[in-house]
Order: sequence, then structure tokens, then C-alpha cells
Amino acid sequence: MSNPRLHEIISRSLQKRESLQNGETSLIRLIDGQGDTLPGHILESYGKGWLISTTGSSLSPEIRDALSSYGKPLYWKRLDQHQKESPVHLYGEELPEFFSGLENGLKCRLSFKSGYSQGIFIDQRNNRDALRKMVSPGQTVLNTFAYTGFFSIAAAAAGAVTSTLDLSQVYLDWARENFLLNGMNPGDHYFCKGDTFHWLRRFAKQNRTFDYIILDPPTFSRDDKGKVFRVEKDYNRLFDLAIACLAPGGRILACTNFRGISIDDFMKQFKGAHLTASPMPKDFTDTSYLKSVWATFT
Ligand SMILES: C[S@@+](CC[C@H](N)C(=O)[O-])C[C@H]1O[C@@H](n2cnc3c(N)ncnc32)[C@H](O)[C@@H]1O
Repeated sequence: MSNPRLHEIISRSLQKRESLQNGETSLIRLIDGQGDTLPGHILESYGKGWLISTTGSSLSPEIRDALSSYGKPLYWKRLDQHQKESPVHLYGEELPEFFSGLENGLKCRLSFKSGYSQGIFIDQRNNRDALRKMVSPGQTVLNTFAYTGFFSIAAAAAGAVTSTLDLSQVYLDWARENFLLNGMNPGDHYFCKGDTFHWLRRFAKQNRTFDYIILDPPTFSRDDKGKVFRVEKDYNRLFDLAIACLAPGGRILACTNFRGISIDDFMKQFKGAHLTASPMPKDFTDTSYLKSVWATFT
């Protein structure tokens, strides 16, 4: 490796995270931009391969070569790239279309060939683990904006009956695959395709309640009636719809990755609840952008 400073940054960042790579978890942020003194660069391990993401439109050959010297298959994506574009293969063996990684002993189906997202948002690791520890067998969990359903997998691993809700059939099918990958029968769980706002109103009308509800909406979206939802202004509306479907003694996890809101302003939206904020995982050393709040009611 030709640049000793770069070598030092990479090896220091890897060393810091050694304890996280314990055989139970292979999905880890290895370099977090400025937090590891490498601004504009995020390196993540997806178990069988590494993904380097850059805010800039190119990756320097020096950094590419330094990372390749670790011998792992290496892929690259631009953080501003189009949502449909998949990462570019840079070094080592090409990974199959689908492969699996581990989070706290649970298997996750991953892909570097299915567009911009790889099948899991690893910044939610601690929240999934907390949910898994909180739920009791037979309790019900509604996982809204579920993506590939990994909150559901964590809860189901503890014996919960889960409902996985997303707009995308592709992601719901992916969630079913995640159940199968972990030896769990998707037939023991529920999958709802459609708009979260619509389903929450519908569940409330049916008096259907859940012990846990997970909310992790996109920063900006429109509901089924075309009404705009903005995290910074409208989260309380989503929260109130969720409260109407919450079983007595139940909990809501409300999250946002919107960088334009502080944790204090985020929490101000949730009136009448007892709130506990949970920090991001330790491998995320740059700005703490993910705000997560567990809400209980007395
Ligand atoms: C940021 S991801 C959620 C990540 C997920 N909570 C996790 O940790 O794995 C957003 C997801 O919300 C879904 N989505 C967007 N708008 C939606 C809506 N109105 N109703 C239901 N799902 C929606 C998208 O298809 C996507 O899968």
C-alpha cells in the first residue's frame, strides 16, 4: 500500500470495530466518513463483500487500491446516484445476485445487483436487537415501511407474530425470503401490501391492535389520498394513527433518518407519550443522523 496515512486510517477504523465482528454479525460500517477521518467515504462490510460509498462522483485509485489490498470483493456506489443503479464491481470475485449476511445470528438476504439498497439498513441494528429483547412469544408486531422486513425477522426470532407492511411487492417477497432463510415459516406471519396510512386507518376501524408498532417512514412521501407527508411537520399525524392501533401497554418505535431535524424537535412531535431515545450503533462514528424514539403510554 503506497500511502501510509491512508493505510493507518483504514487499519485503525477496522481495529475499532473488531469486537463487533464476532461471528454473529457480519454487517458493519467499517469507515464512517469524517468520524474516521476519511470525509466523503463510507465503507461497509456485507459479510462476503465490501461496499465503498462516496459523496463525490469518483473514487480515487489510491483508495481503491488500498481497500483492494484486504482481499475482499469490493463494490462502489455514489451516494447521489440514481436509486435504480446498482453498485459497480471493482475488485475480487463477483458476488452472486443474492447472498447472505449475518446480524446478531440472523441471516439476511443481500444483493449488490438489485439497485441502490442492498437488502438491509444496518444503522437499525441496535433497534432490531432491542425489539427482539423486548417482545415475548405470541406478542404482535406491526412493522410499517418495512423494506425487506428485518425488524419482523428480529421480532419473529423471539416468538412474536409479525405483520410486515410495505408499498413494494418486491420487498415483501424479499421479506418472505428472509423468513425462509432463517428457518421460519412466512405462513405463520402476515404481509400487507400498500400504504401505511391507509392500513393504520383500516386496522383501527377493525379494532385490530398490536403490542409493538415500528415506524420508519421516508422523509417525504404521499399517502394513498395524495396527501403529502413530511417528517419534520407531519410525523405526529402518523404517530396518532399508530396509537389508535396500539394494544394496552404497547410500544411504538418512531425513527427518522432525516438530517434536517434535531432529536429534540423530533421528540416534540410526540405529545402525551413517555419517550426514550436510543443512540446509533457504535460503528456509526460520523454525525448521528438516525433519530430513534421508543414511546410508551401510561
Ligand atoms: C427507509 S425504508 C425503511 C427501512 C426499514 N424500516 C428497515 O429498517 O429495514 C422505506 C421503505 O418504506 C416503503 N414505503 C415508502 N412509502 C410507503 C408508504 N406510504 N407505505 C408503506 N411503505 C412505504 C418503501 O417501499 C421502503 O421499503
